[in-house]
Amino acid sequence: MAAGAANGILAGIKVLDMTQVIAGPSATSLLAEMGAEVIKVELGPTGDRYRFFIQARNRGTAFVRLNRGKKSLCMNFRHPEAARIVREMLPKFDVLVENFAPGVMARMGLDYESVRQINPRIIMCSISAFGQSGPLSNQPGYDYLGAAYAGVLDVLGGEPDGSPTLPGVAIGDYLTGMTALAAIGCALFHRAQTGIGQYVEASLLDSYFYTQDQAVVRQALYGGKFIPKRLGRHDRALCPQGLFKGEKHWLCILVPMDKMWRQLCTAMNKPELARHPDFATNAVRVRNRERVIKLVQDWLDATPEEEALRLLQQNRVPVAPVLNTSEAVAHPHLRERGTVRKAKDPVLGEVDVPGFPIRFSAAAEPLDAPAPLLGQHNAEVLREFLGYSDQQIAQLRQAGVLLERPVDEPKTQPKPKPA
Ligand SMILES: CC(C)(COP(=O)(O)OP(=O)(O)OC[C@H]1O[C@@H](n2cnc3c(N)ncnc32)[C@H](O)[C@@H]1OP(=O)(O)O)[C@@H](O)C(=O)NCCC(=O)NCCS
Repeated sequence: MAAGAANGILAGIKVLDMTQVIAGPSATSLLAEMGAEVIKVELGPTGDRYRFFIQARNRGTAFVRLNRGKKSLCMNFRHPEAARIVREMLPKFDVLVENFAPGVMARMGLDYESVRQINPRIIMCSISAFGQSGPLSNQPGYDYLGAAYAGVLDVLGGEPDGSPTLPGVAIGDYLTGMTALAAIGCALFHRAQTGIGQYVEASLLDSYFYTQDQAVVRQALYGGKFIPKRLGRHDRALCPQGLFKGEKHWLCILVPMDKMWRQLCTAMNKPELARHPDFATNAVRVRNRERVIKLVQDWLDATPEEEALRLLQQNRVPVAPVLNTSEAVAHPHLRERGTVRKAKDPVLGEVDVPGFPIRFSAAAEPLDAPAPLLGQHNAEVLREFLGYSDQQIAQLRQAGVLLERPVDEPKTQPKPKPA
């Protein structure tokens, strides 16, 4: 059992994890964080392709954070024994998660119908780019494509008159992992009440589209006349609401309510502006947007950044400095809460990783087990779950069904340059 799992909220739940890259592994890493026993089934000869993406010392730097606490069983799926072994394992598991393109699991004989015949109590979760049905469903895809089809990439960042921009963080992958986690958790709850297993799915496109706020309703009302625009640095419907240049950082200042405008005026020591007819309400501030932005920017230009932040926070004006990752991981707040935490890796040593973002009062110790090497737990898993003998395991190794590799040295993939 993974370290930290014994008193986890999902202790005793067993997960067969046929996922790779980010979206799938993020869902199963959250399950592992909660104490589930996660067996990561990897397709030989290379295993999870994320082992090779942006490496340091032959170790995928995102792989190590996405797969902590999992056990690796690596098999050659070109050999029929591999899928047969998965089928033999299914009765021992509560959850099966996969994120191949739709159709791949069926070709392995592991579609939900077949899985259900073997274990009707299992929760099977499929994660895909565009969903398991519909005209786009057979397409492979990654995060940004979900954002593109959801109408999200069009407005996500950048200036109104420029091109769309890539976000640079895998928002959709991790969001979809959370969607899958919610689906699995609720399906487990349903199973506890009724005894019935089921098939659940999550997709990048559905998860991204769910983040659409008011724009979908507005376009339903106004049709093609309403097309949301990229905001650029400042919101157009609320004012002031945007990014201002501080001494060292951009400062994100949000004033969605008139009372916050009054608080901002106090912070800026300009009480006369609070009820001024040109600025007192959001409607007039939006009309006088350029003047409002200039007022705030002029104040910031004349005020040291730390002092400005102190005054804004003291007056409860919503504000944050735009930190880079290095500043974020060093921030005492993130450290104190374990939002960023230390984790050990057998290859990289001690590294910082994002902490578990959900908090339970009946909580376990944080997960303290590293990501596995490829096929590291082949023998252990086959012994524990299927009772295979050493001789059976040796035969599977000899037949090339079981694969192990102590180092993630890419033999077949070009090595991407570090970012
Ligand atoms: C991630 C993705 C784009 C990769 O595309 P792909 O490399 O073409 O992989 P597919 O899932 O379509 O599988 C194609 C074949 O490769 C095989 N394969 C997949 N991963 C493999 C691996 N790591 N090693 C060996 N074979 C692998 C599959 O078994 C399948 O074989 P088959 O065609 O004989 O059935 C695709 O799996 C996908 O769209 N997944 C769902 C969305 C998603 O999660 N995207 C990643 C977000 S981080």
